[in-house]
Amino acid sequence: MKDYEEVKKEVKKRLSEKRFYHSQCVEERCIEFAKIYGADIEKARLIGIAHDIAKEMSHEEKIAFLEKRKEKMTPEEIKSPGLLHGKVGAIIAKEELDFDNEMIEAIANHTTGNSNMTLLSEILFVADCCSIDRKYIGTQETYELAKNNLKSAVIRCMDRTIQERIEKQKTIDPKTIIARNNYLEKIQNISK
Ligand SMILES: [Fe+2]
Ligand SMILES: [Fe+2]
Repeated sequence: MKDYEEVKKEVKKRLSEKRFYHSQCVEERCIEFAKIYGADIEKARLIGIAHDIAKEMSHEEKIAFLEKRKEKMTPEEIKSPGLLHGKVGAIIAKEELDFDNEMIEAIANHTTGNSNMTLLSEILFVADCCSIDRKYIGTQETYELAKNNLKSAVIRCMDRTIQERIEKQKTIDPKTIIARNNYLEKIQNISK
């Protein structure tokens, strides 16, 4: 695992100022949630700063990157340029930043969410959705909810992802819908 300064340098090299600032904001939230929920703070910090490392690669670059590694892509991923940066970022984290499996998985999961995520994946998914630079309505409420009930915040962030894609008339990755059902079930089982 590369140390924080090295990772930060690597991320900064690949991102615009605005996106790097977003990464720093997500890092801040990741640290905060890791403290509340007892996750590894250093790992949370690293995935926070690195999660969007592939965000500014072009769609063609991402496709070529994945084809070269013989990685499978779903039809939704091929159609939606935005969706692939998690998968590509996870591979960069593995090949270049020496992140461990749980961290790699968290980066892979951050765009769509997933069923049965680890604590670290949940933290990143929610941190990305309620970082201080996010301007959409309800960000503060999501943040407050996340401090008390992380799994409910996961659902809220999936709702937001789905709503946003509907509004922009973009395809929805079925993974998000399946994962949302999975988390709804988890919440209902807890409250029984
Ligand atoms: Fe992202
Ligand atoms: Fe992000």
